[in-house]
Amino acid sequence: MCGIVGCIGNRSVTPIIVESLKRLEYRGYDSAGIATLNGAEIDITKTEGKIADLENILSLTNTACVGIGHTRWATHGIPSSTNAHPHADCSGSFAVVHNGIIENFQALKDELTSKGHIFSSETDTEVLAHLCEDCYNGDLESAVREALLRVEGSYAIAVISDNEPDVIVAARKDSPLIVGLGDGENFLASDIPAIRKYTNKVMYINDGEIVRLTRDNVTVSTLQGVNVERLVTIVDGSVQDAERGGYEHFMLKEIHEQPKALRDTMEDRLCELEGSIDFKELRPFEDEIKNIEGITIIACGTSYHAGILGKYALEDLLRIPVKVEYSSEFRYNNFLSGNRSLAICISQSGETADTLAAMNEAKAQGYLTLAITNVVGSTITRKADEILLTKSGMEIGVAATKTFTAQILTLYMLGIYVARLKKLIDVETSRHIITSMKSVPGLIESLLDNISDIEKASSRICEADCCYFIGRGLSYPIALEGALKMKEISYIKAEGFPAGELKHGPLALITAGTPVIAIVPKGKTYYKTLGNIKEVKARNAFVIAIANASDDEIVKYVDSVIKIPDIDELFSPMLAAVVLQLLAYYAAKDIGAEIDQPRNLAKSVTVE
Ligand code: F6R
Repeated sequence: MCGIVGCIGNRSVTPIIVESLKRLEYRGYDSAGIATLNGAEIDITKTEGKIADLENILSLTNTACVGIGHTRWATHGIPSSTNAHPHADCSGSFAVVHNGIIENFQALKDELTSKGHIFSSETDTEVLAHLCEDCYNGDLESAVREALLRVEGSYAIAVISDNEPDVIVAARKDSPLIVGLGDGENFLASDIPAIRKYTNKVMYINDGEIVRLTRDNVTVSTLQGVNVERLVTIVDGSVQDAERGGYEHFMLKEIHEQPKALRDTMEDRLCELEGSIDFKELRPFEDEIKNIEGITIIACGTSYHAGILGKYALEDLLRIPVKVEYSSEFRYNNFLSGNRSLAICISQSGETADTLAAMNEAKAQGYLTLAITNVVGSTITRKADEILLTKSGMEIGVAATKTFTAQILTLYMLGIYVARLKKLIDVETSRHIITSMKSVPGLIESLLDNISDIEKASSRICEADCCYFIGRGLSYPIALEGALKMKEISYIKAEGFPAGELKHGPLALITAGTPVIAIVPKGKTYYKTLGNIKEVKARNAFVIAIANASDDEIVKYVDSVIKIPDIDELFSPMLAAVVLQLLAYYAAKDIGAEIDQPRNLAKSVTVE
């Protein structure tokens, strides 16, 4: 949450910072600001609202060549221009942008106030500006270092000072920070896409490190003052990834990118003939993986829903217990030793604070940790024992779509991989699964070619003030995900239930006309779910079924049917997920909601 950027060069930095902030806006968008330094003094412009609002009030004649910027997702203090970053000290000599939470800010604030510092915002961040002022003794880097040694919590910060007009100092602990290297100019940002337009050369900054940027030089050192040699990484990924490419919203573009994301995630990994999965990256761990006796999947939100599907598939293939835990719960639970256990930590961003902390806990308990993530170089990739990348390309819409189906695919591939290692399935069986797996992208393409039933169903849902999603077995996590997508972008109240649980309480919510979306592909639980559909129909619910193309029976029991192509039961959740993403998308569009940036949410939750 929150995005920070900085730039020091020989040209006006204002347009660069604005452009970079736009690419970070998915991290938070309730207020934004920028501080520039023109050699003599700091100029701060900030406002409540989005980057576009900031852009409207920025001076076009600002020629300053040094600056920092921020897009905020409020934690301490309401969204307002006063609480927006950058924050300054009493004299206006220091400006700070910050992503994270300073946990001991109140104690520091009290101390600084008693020394005569005057605070103007309700934020935790402002203490950093006053601390820098307090610690400054002729060297900005030393002042930042000294200030940070007094701070508890998480941060990625950037600081400028009119005392040293040709320097930006930045630092990180538990919040992401990268540096971009240009020609006579250097950049910093919360993530690579923010500055990808300006350079493809990056340095990853680690926890506990401070970085000093001038136009021509970047130095990295630890908080304790030990110099660090940092390699430069050349990144790929095109600038176009961050464009809408003719689609009205990033979310719609990303839904349509799913066939490619899945093909890329499978590429070079599926060996159909041998009936095996080639995860080269896991080879060094084969012996350990072979001996795994239990698995815990740890994730938040949509990644958690992928985790539930992973549990069902992994238990089926591996015949060992698989638990799924919310990261925020796992990290505070009294869990058992992770001896001979694998912790699979799923995070598309690789930066979710709760998942990172839970992974650290799991490691400390002796689990072997495996991260599934979409972001190369993200914090999780540098902390996990093993990494499996989904190759979905950059996801900008706040609602996860293509990364979700790629996570499911990766968990399935992992299941086959481990099952073959443990010799639990034969070549024939895994070959059969792989053949179906390979057909998924093409089937999603055909589904995306005909969406009129989905649009119709979404307008029906928009007429109601709530809706419910039901499913059993593999369709249950998809019901949860369908409800999450619906509520997060359309703001329609939506809940997902295991269909069999309806009669244990939720049935009381059903009244005449209530939309119930039943995910009911052919498979083990088909007739059981049909029974649950009858239960809600008996209460006059309006039932929309997501069913297989060859299912001619379902139409007798429901009000509306959205068909998905026929495929092995294991893979129908991936097809149903695409339908539910579109259902939420069109409902949000009907309502006129801000689809790519839903209220109160941010894409990457980097605070606890
Ligand atoms: C919902 C959504 C969130 C994320 C959750 C975890 O559409 O995107 O629920 O899934 O914040 O994020 P990652 O996967 O980045 O750890």
